[in-house]
Amino acid sequence: MKRIVVTGAAGQIGTEMVTRLRELYGTEAVLATDIRSPGAETGPFAFVDVTDGESLDAAIARHRADTVFHLAAILSAVGEQRPQLTYQVNIGGLFNVLEVARARECAVFTPSSIAAFGPGTPPDPAPQDTIQRPNTMYGVSKVAGELLCDYYFSRFGLDTRGVRYPGLVSHVTAPGGGTTDYAVEIYYEAVLHNRFECFVAEGTQLDMMYMPDAIRAAIELMEAPAELLVHRNAFNIGAMQLTPERIADSIRRRMPDFELTYNVDPARQAIAESWPRRVDDSAAREEWGWSPEYDLDAMTDEMLDELARKL
Ligand code: NAD
Ligand code: SER
Repeated sequence: MKRIVVTGAAGQIGTEMVTRLRELYGTEAVLATDIRSPGAETGPFAFVDVTDGESLDAAIARHRADTVFHLAAILSAVGEQRPQLTYQVNIGGLFNVLEVARARECAVFTPSSIAAFGPGTPPDPAPQDTIQRPNTMYGVSKVAGELLCDYYFSRFGLDTRGVRYPGLVSHVTAPGGGTTDYAVEIYYEAVLHNRFECFVAEGTQLDMMYMPDAIRAAIELMEAPAELLVHRNAFNIGAMQLTPERIADSIRRRMPDFELTYNVDPARQAIAESWPRRVDDSAAREEWGWSPEYDLDAMTDEMLDELARKL
């Protein structure tokens, strides 16, 4: 990777991905793109809508990119409110990225998600290769994306790679409308109000990961020697299995009076219940050495410290 284009660069992952890629490869080597402006000017940026193949092609050609980190997408909760848009952006946008990458000979990183699993998937753990019959448009788009990326690899030799991210927790950029957003909001509300009303039910367990591990996973996968990869799109990766009350207990180590209550949103609860409680990430560990660094308490300590500074 020497010249990189990031789509969806103003999002929760994109903001921190661009920062890290610029630290590693140089500011000018990384072109950030999105349909909205990133908060701060930190290097080259272009407005690119991934559903517009010509504008995407122009940006990738102008930048002489050899790699695309394709992060533009609509997430699960918004996806159920706007399924048609989700189809256009998540499937149409990815198709455009793959077509431009094929023509311009770029490697492509595309995140999938635990949402690529559904109620028929063995939930604890969800194997690497298993039943994938999700019941959300977001999940459908993620399964289609995995298949498209594998197809472009086997049919055209395009170097496509991806991970199935769990819910991601971070303090730099707010999440964009997913089901696991509660695990970010709980920290903001702890720092601001010492209490949190949770929209998923007590006991709902999902895989989660702290953002520095998620960023490192993507970059390590893209740097891994191709001959080591048996799977490509997409690897299960896990770090911790969380419920709202487990996060609250971790926060209470530092804020003993922190109060957690519930006001369950049936739509997002149904999405959460359709996802596995844990993924089996042994393929990622074996094929390219995946290993998370942050556990729950380490993540909580950093989230509370950083948000106290920021808020
Ligand atoms: P986000 O919603 O925070 O950011 C997505 C970005 O895409 C936004 O900045 C948005 O403006 C941009 N975008 C939307 N439509 C666009 C379009 N037509 N053209 C160009 N840009 C467009 O999402 P994120 O959390 O950063 O997710 C990035 C990727 O990671 C997505 O593929 C998502 O499915 C995947 N993922 C995220 C999580 C998570 O917990 N954050 C978990 C699993 C997978
Ligand atoms: N965190 C994402 C969501 O909740 C999972 O892909 O939509």
